[in-house]
Amino acid sequence: MSALTASSLFTSSSLRVSKTTTSTSKKNSSSSSSERKTNVVCRSQKQQKTSASRNSISLAPSSSKNECIQQIAAKTKASPPLPPTATGPTPTQIAAGVFAAAAIGVTARKAMKKKSKKIVIAGAPASGKGTQCELIVKKFGITHISAGDLLRAAVAQGTEDGLKAKEFMDRGDLVPDEVVVNMVKSRLNEPDCAGGWLLDGYPRSASQAEALSSYGIEPDLFLLLDVPDEELLERVVGRRLDPVTGQIYHLKFFPPPDETVAKRLTQRSDDTEEKAQNRLKVHHANVNAVLSKYKNIMKTIDGNRQKTTVFKEIEGLINSM
Ligand code: AP5
Repeated sequence: MSALTASSLFTSSSLRVSKTTTSTSKKNSSSSSSERKTNVVCRSQKQQKTSASRNSISLAPSSSKNECIQQIAAKTKASPPLPPTATGPTPTQIAAGVFAAAAIGVTARKAMKKKSKKIVIAGAPASGKGTQCELIVKKFGITHISAGDLLRAAVAQGTEDGLKAKEFMDRGDLVPDEVVVNMVKSRLNEPDCAGGWLLDGYPRSASQAEALSSYGIEPDLFLLLDVPDEELLERVVGRRLDPVTGQIYHLKFFPPPDETVAKRLTQRSDDTEEKAQNRLKVHHANVNAVLSKYKNIMKTIDGNRQKTTVFKEIEGLINSM
């Protein structure tokens, strides 16, 4: 936004300078050219024809000098653009500049009008949050922030936070707020979130929701994917991830496209039935407090349908924001 404003300010101020310079030079050059034309055209009828046709201006025969001047003055208003001068751009260049400035103004106004989208997507483990986020990002280009991905990255990097988080994640418990709250807050403060964000898997407890509010961070839409528990367990154990593309597969529901991809797929360490049972228990113990906080902006979506059908509904909701 600031870049746009700065660039439009720059463009209009340079245009202002150019216009002043050019109108002066145009004035000088057109008055001298009118005088030149007047002298040439009004000398004789023959010369008048020759000169007028060279300049594509036809004058009424036997015009007086004053009439000639008036006719030429009137007709030269529609003359073709003057050639560039040493002191400024041609009228065509000015017109192009004015047009460009207007276009920049329209774009800036559109950008200001286009509301940034701040969305939370919630749901039980394997309810399809990550799958829907892939589709939302593809369609709307919103910055996706997954609390689980941030934590897994910290674990993989072996940071202090990662080491703390690991034992909770291995059990399928919630990672303590002291680790996760700041992690998400810092990520939301990065520049790519200025135009909106899609927060996946956060907040998951009343205290996390409160922390978000206390930083003045409020979503405009809270999407809840609703899927029966028995379906979730099958989704968890069959999930596989492609480490190359980041694509989420399911051995039964979304199998990989070929053997090459199939061979490189990995499975999350918490995607066992036993850990998934605990993750589900933790989810049910915390979800109601979060839902009550966002009930005014919450939309519940039946996530137990084809992923494309689920996405169609989400797409409609985001479009109407
Ligand atoms: P996280 O990574 O967030 O895991 P989760 O919430 O358990 O969710 P999942 O990633 O398992 O599932 P998903 O809903 O994204 O489903 P997906 O699209 O992959 O968190 C992991 C851990 O980190 C937590 O247990 C906790 O320890 C910690 N943590 C995270 N956030 C935290 C927080 N805020 N506070 C504290 N701790 C936190 O789909 C699953 C499978 O189903 C896939 O195979 C997919 O292909 C398939 N599928 C998707 N949609 C469909 C469909 N419509 N039909 C059929 N199959 C489908």
